[in-house]
Amino acid sequence: SLTPHSRRFRLAVRASSASSTVLNDPPNPTLSNCDHQLRVKILSESLPYIQKFRGKTIVVKYGGAAMKSSELKASVVRDLVLLACVGLRPVLVHGGGPEINVLLNQLNIASQFCDGLRVTDARTMEVVSMVLVGKVNKDLVSRINFAGATAVGLSGMDGRLLTARPSPNAAQLGGGIGSRETDLLTDVSGILRDREDPGSLVKEMDIKGVKKTIEEGKVGGGMIPKVNCCIRSLAQGVTTASIIDGRVEHSLLHEIMTDEGAGTMITG
Ligand code: ARG
Repeated sequence: SLTPHSRRFRLAVRASSASSTVLNDPPNPTLSNCDHQLRVKILSESLPYIQKFRGKTIVVKYGGAAMKSSELKASVVRDLVLLACVGLRPVLVHGGGPEINVLLNQLNIASQFCDGLRVTDARTMEVVSMVLVGKVNKDLVSRINFAGATAVGLSGMDGRLLTARPSPNAAQLGGGIGSRETDLLTDVSGILRDREDPGSLVKEMDIKGVKKTIEEGKVGGGMIPKVNCCIRSLAQGVTTASIIDGRVEHSLLHEIMTDEGAGTMITG
């Protein structure tokens, strides 16, 4: 037999399923008042950041780790669409790591790396542009558009977006397009005070501090190109550059829209 409570519950579900698909979930009875307050507090915490970043370009560098699972991909796409919806202008700069290697292997082309960066000869370049421009970029554009924003996919060649000469350094887009903030979605939680201790995340550091940490040998080899990318972005006028964990869902939103952020924020 139905208690008055469960009857009301059922009616509510039926009414909402008739009118909308969004409101189908019944209120979660296990959430205490305290949890509700926390939720709205966090939502409200985003107001100053929406006001601060509205109309501003935010470059998000999106690499290997966060691209591996479709859940993580969906979480990045959803965060980008939310940011665009509240008026930010996200520019997603993506790689294609594993997919490039898969095709290179299939074509029997050996990959060469130098300090964690790919050495791209002419044959490799052909494959890289097939994968990045033809496949990965179009996949991301279609996911973003499907999620409700309007993305346009460009390669460095389009409209002379990037002109380049051979150099050991790259990753300077953030400064070039007048971005306010650069976020790097990586496969680490950020810069650690003690490399062995994942709990020793440094939440904020200035360039001086970062350079000192590198000199002291506290930044791991794979991290150095990422940290240097942040330093160059800052040198070119980006206000802050954050290293955030691409393995954690919604770390992008966490970094941009909350006070505490998700990773290490580097300031000029
Ligand atoms: N949401 C703010 C911003 O993007 C603060 C982020 C703080 N992040 C950090 N890792 N300390 O400016």
